[in-house]
Amino acid sequence: MNLRPTVPDCMGEADPNLGDIVVPEDVLQRRIVELGAEITRDYEGRAPLLVGVLKGAFIFMSDLARAIRLPVEFDFMAVSSYGSATKTSGVVRIVKDLDLDLSGRDVLVVEDIVDSGLTLSYLRRNLQARGPASLEVCALFVKDGLQKSDPDLRYVGFPIPPDFVVGYGLDVAERYRNLPFICRYLGPA
Ligand code: IMP
Ligand code: MG
Repeated sequence: MNLRPTVPDCMGEADPNLGDIVVPEDVLQRRIVELGAEITRDYEGRAPLLVGVLKGAFIFMSDLARAIRLPVEFDFMAVSSYGSATKTSGVVRIVKDLDLDLSGRDVLVVEDIVDSGLTLSYLRRNLQARGPASLEVCALFVKDGLQKSDPDLRYVGFPIPPDFVVGYGLDVAERYRNLPFICRYLGPA
């Protein structure tokens, strides 16, 4: 039985590995506009450096940046914590480091999703050591109840149930990142 009456045109045929929609596109976009307005207020008079965590955050970063009315700058880093499986390994590795110097900068880390919080706690320690003027985190999704320590998130888009989800930058083996919403993933890891 197909529980998803709304298969978006961009995905073609219904995909049996995709479950119900957790956050639809219009709800996502409205929340991102709110987050952008909040960041614009909080950083008034400053030029924050947005640090996107690749690859998952690239779509969120792009929409969020356009909702911020400030002279923002961009940098990206890539960390690997998952491989292509759907369970965290607990091991975080920097695959691509930043290009810019963080000293004296107002750094805002843009993350797609916080699951165990291991990736973020590693990133926070690593970036803090580079001497930024401030360091805050904006995470689009936070899974309820899975973090071992308080992830200290200044901005959160949506708390979501602790299921594996795909879409809007989130993948399984590099697929599904281009879905404009997020939905449960039912298929093999
Ligand atoms: P954490 O270290 O357990 O918090 O995992 C964080 C990273 O794992 C995220 O930045 C994602 O790249 C990935 N991840 C965690 N949960 C999901 C999910 O439900 N779908 C896709 N990727 C996920
Ligand atoms: Mg990520």
